[in-house]
Amino acid sequence: MTSVDLSGARVLVAGATGVLGGGVARALHREGARLALAGRDERKLAALADELGGVPTAVFDAQYLDRCAAVVDEAADALGRLDVVVVAIGVAAFGPGDETDDAVTEHLLTVNTMAPMAMVRAAVRRFGDGGTVAVLSAILADYPTAGMAAYTASKAGLSAWLTALRSELRRRGVAVFDVRPPHIETGLADRAIAGTAPPMKAGATVDEVVALIVEGIRTGRRELRYDLLKGEFAGR
Ligand SMILES: NC(=O)c1ccc[n+]([C@@H]2O[C@H](COP(=O)([O-])OP(=O)(O)OC[C@H]3O[C@@H](n4cnc5c(N)ncnc54)[C@H](OP(=O)(O)O)[C@@H]3O)[C@@H](O)[C@H]2O)c1
Repeated sequence: MTSVDLSGARVLVAGATGVLGGGVARALHREGARLALAGRDERKLAALADELGGVPTAVFDAQYLDRCAAVVDEAADALGRLDVVVVAIGVAAFGPGDETDDAVTEHLLTVNTMAPMAMVRAAVRRFGDGGTVAVLSAILADYPTAGMAAYTASKAGLSAWLTALRSELRRRGVAVFDVRPPHIETGLADRAIAGTAPPMKAGATVDEVVALIVEGIRTGRRELRYDLLKGEFAGR
């Protein structure tokens, strides 16, 4: 297990305009990390960059995979090197699997699966010795859920890819942290690209998950998962 000294670490947070991404960016800033931020909403990104003392930013739409890789390179260039990449982009969609159309499925698989994969591949190319990627998949990877089949597939695919990649990169000392939180009240479900979310009970607060992500990066954790039966976080 490799630990990361967050003070002075050069970190890209992609999806920094989101609730969890923004929370992680602020927490890492408090730890003394040198940040670059990437996100889709230029105005929100600029406001957060100002709040954090004028850090570099890059705007991207995760539906364009070339651009996903390019923002990682831009961040590495702006920061001088790259030690940690946090990927906190994602979209939700709801509805029965046999009724979810190709356009929605493609959107989910692009933004939730292929875009994080493209960013991680670009990050690994830019890491020197070691490096850490912390990627938000979801509890759906552990508990495939009715009414969210396509959304489940997108997150399970990402999580499985991260597991295989972790083994591949072990000898190079790259830490691959798969974050699979339970439902959290961030408004993600209300911004679904299709369907309506069923009633869901929050399993954790934003502050709790942000703290666990930062601690997991610091300690070289492999995964953060949530045991629904016990109602508590688990993972190695
Ligand atoms: N909240 C939960 O219950 C929960 C549970 C498990 C896992 N997660 C995962 O945690 C991550 C963060 O979610 P959150 O709860 O913080 O939700 P959020 O506030 O909606 O954040 C989602 C982020 O993804 C970005 N995004 C969406 N589509 C994009 C696109 N095409 N191009 C670029 N960026 C795009 C959003 O950008 P904009 O600001 O431009 O919209 C936003 O920054 C996601 O991967 C989510 O699946 C969340």
